[in-house]
Amino acid sequence: MAQREHFSNKLGFMLAAAGSAVGLGAIWKFPYMAGSNGGSAFIILFILCMILISLPVLIAEFMIGRRGQADAITSFKQQAPGTPWYLVGYLGTITSALILSFYSVVGGWILSYLVRALLFQLKSTESTSYDTLFQSIIQNPWEMIIAQGAFFLITIFIVQAGIKSGIEKASKIIMPALFIFFVILAIRSLTLPGAMEGVRFMFVPDFSKITGETVLLALGQAFFTLSVGISIMITYASYLGKNENIAGTGVNVALMNVFISILAGLVIFPAVFALGFKTDEGPGLVFVILPAVFEQIPLGNFFLIIFFILLLFATLTSAMSLLEMVVSVVVKDRPKRRVRVTWLLGLFIFMIGIPSALSEGVLSHIRIGSQSIFGFMEFLTNNIGMPIGALLISLFVGYYYTTNESKTELQTKPFFYTMWIVSIRFLAPIAILIIFIAGIFF
Ligand code: PHE
Repeated sequence: MAQREHFSNKLGFMLAAAGSAVGLGAIWKFPYMAGSNGGSAFIILFILCMILISLPVLIAEFMIGRRGQADAITSFKQQAPGTPWYLVGYLGTITSALILSFYSVVGGWILSYLVRALLFQLKSTESTSYDTLFQSIIQNPWEMIIAQGAFFLITIFIVQAGIKSGIEKASKIIMPALFIFFVILAIRSLTLPGAMEGVRFMFVPDFSKITGETVLLALGQAFFTLSVGISIMITYASYLGKNENIAGTGVNVALMNVFISILAGLVIFPAVFALGFKTDEGPGLVFVILPAVFEQIPLGNFFLIIFFILLLFATLTSAMSLLEMVVSVVVKDRPKRRVRVTWLLGLFIFMIGIPSALSEGVLSHIRIGSQSIFGFMEFLTNNIGMPIGALLISLFVGYYYTTNESKTELQTKPFFYTMWIVSIRFLAPIAILIIFIAGIFF
């Protein structure tokens, strides 16, 4: 058997895992969700849900992966022979492929915007506002397919190169760049006159804004943004040496994610308030409001280009993890197959994604329930695949592993272990069941 490839060290692994986590969730979804759900109240709830519920599940996935040293399905088979637990790996594989099929659509939107910004064509005119520009881009079938295809090409190109020279290398360049440039962008936004109103919106809590729905949204976001529930983190941790500390790494990944989410908010909200826009724009916040915001500040086009490059990078490191999860299941311990498998699976998932790419335009008449194809894919993965996966993973590590096993795997202080096991056995499963039921019936 060929030797399994490993990350070069803990830092490489941590940046790759953080790269998977930090993506559209932190930079695109978090600001518009916070913007429409009471700002600070949502942010506090989100951070609580992350610490108490999704971080413990992330650590559980790291455990299964590091212990298994194999793809997700094989890891379950080895650790629970003769039981149906390996189906959790299959569920993760299918959910990852489906997420990638529509995640790449938004990747395509970003590429389209970036190319326009580089050509100085991302401008509103008297006849077209940014809203109509956004609509015309996402409704243009050829542009959408080409953009999504280009996004796939970049993702495939990195993943086929393998763990060390593909994923790890890309993450080691992209993640630090993300931190540095986001700080610069936030400073730009924070120094606009009137920016403090935006800071107040994010940090002065107004608990009257908290409703049952806010709690559910915060919880859903805490899961999506850490990439947990679909065995991606099992896959990444399987390329980790046996002795690496997973609890600390999990905490760092969660911290980096919160940090980038808050920075994204600090780029967007101060500017939105300073220039008199509204915060509750929904999904268009980044694509419709941000160009309008940057248009009004000196060197705006330059900052806008930086923003979209960063958003593209962050989206790529998450897309890489989605593709890697699926590829690893087929490659197994035959690394020679990696290049071919990556191309084939990449093309296949691209094709599954085409209907989503066209669903805002030529296929907008197709509705599943009341949703577009894109919306339905998102519903299927966010509201069904991810919560069921996360629930089963917490039950597996919480109850199938003996206390001794999980203690030895976690190798951490007794206090931290107790917090973690209480969450994995009780808090996480109950919370996930609640989001699951509420997400389907309300
Ligand atoms: N965490 C990623 C983001 O926030 C999305 C993602 C979810 C990636 C699940 C992989 C798996 O953008």
